[in-house]
Amino acid sequence: MADSRQELVQRLFAGTGETYDSMVYFGTFGCDKFWKKKILAKVPPSARRVMDLACGTGIVTFAIAQKLPDCHVIGVDITQEYLDIARAKAKELHLTNAKFLHQRAEEVSFKELFDCVTASYLPKYADLKTLTRNVKGMLKENGLFIMHDFTYPNNPLIALLWEFYFKLLQTVVSRFYPQWRTIFHELPQVVHNSTWLADFIASLRQCGFTQITVERLIVGSAAIVTGKNGKSKDPGPTG
Ligand SMILES: C[S@@+](CC[C@H](N)C(=O)[O-])C[C@H]1O[C@@H](n2cnc3c(N)ncnc32)[C@H](O)[C@@H]1O
Repeated sequence: MADSRQELVQRLFAGTGETYDSMVYFGTFGCDKFWKKKILAKVPPSARRVMDLACGTGIVTFAIAQKLPDCHVIGVDITQEYLDIARAKAKELHLTNAKFLHQRAEEVSFKELFDCVTASYLPKYADLKTLTRNVKGMLKENGLFIMHDFTYPNNPLIALLWEFYFKLLQTVVSRFYPQWRTIFHELPQVVHNSTWLADFIASLRQCGFTQITVERLIVGSAAIVTGKNGKSKDPGPTG
């Protein structure tokens, strides 16, 4: 199972690293920037150790490292091409508090605990039970797990527009950016079939996370879920 997930990720992302930052910005009409700002706002300002899972080219990793200069941020990803870009950017930005590690999010292991773990666009590719258990073991008490990803819109009209938009990406944008053809063709089905939101909330509960919050974003096209590694009784998802 882990192999087929990894194979999917390799197939989707091969060759897309150089154009990733502009594609994720323009391809989402700037929504990605807005979503990442929301993730950043949720990272506790007192955090001194943060791990950014599936960091890609490091957009979230650098945003945290720049906002919290006393915080040590570790970006983790399985795509070497993306990590090479992230490391080059860290050099350019002279950022010494951001480091990168080539590892599967479900398997990464640190003895020193984290105040917060973030992940943007990871859950639809991940084994969420294993991942949540792994993150739980690396968070301090009251540490925060923040997860963000696309969701398939519930509203039928919005879903129709969403599908139409992907058709445009497949037929028009792919011509100019052929390396994105596979993602544009396969991502709609991956998002449509993904049950990450319900699965992740269930995994958080199972692992004893508390104060679980769910924020639906832009006509149900994405969501941010947070859970605390706390001791208090879970009041259930809010928001
Ligand atoms: C769409 S990119 C997102 C990058 C970054 N988080 C962002 O928001 O810009 C998805 C990333 O997830 C990584 N990824 C997918 N499954 C992973 C896993 N199990 N462990 C670590 N990284 C994974 C891919 O290599 C890819 O870089």
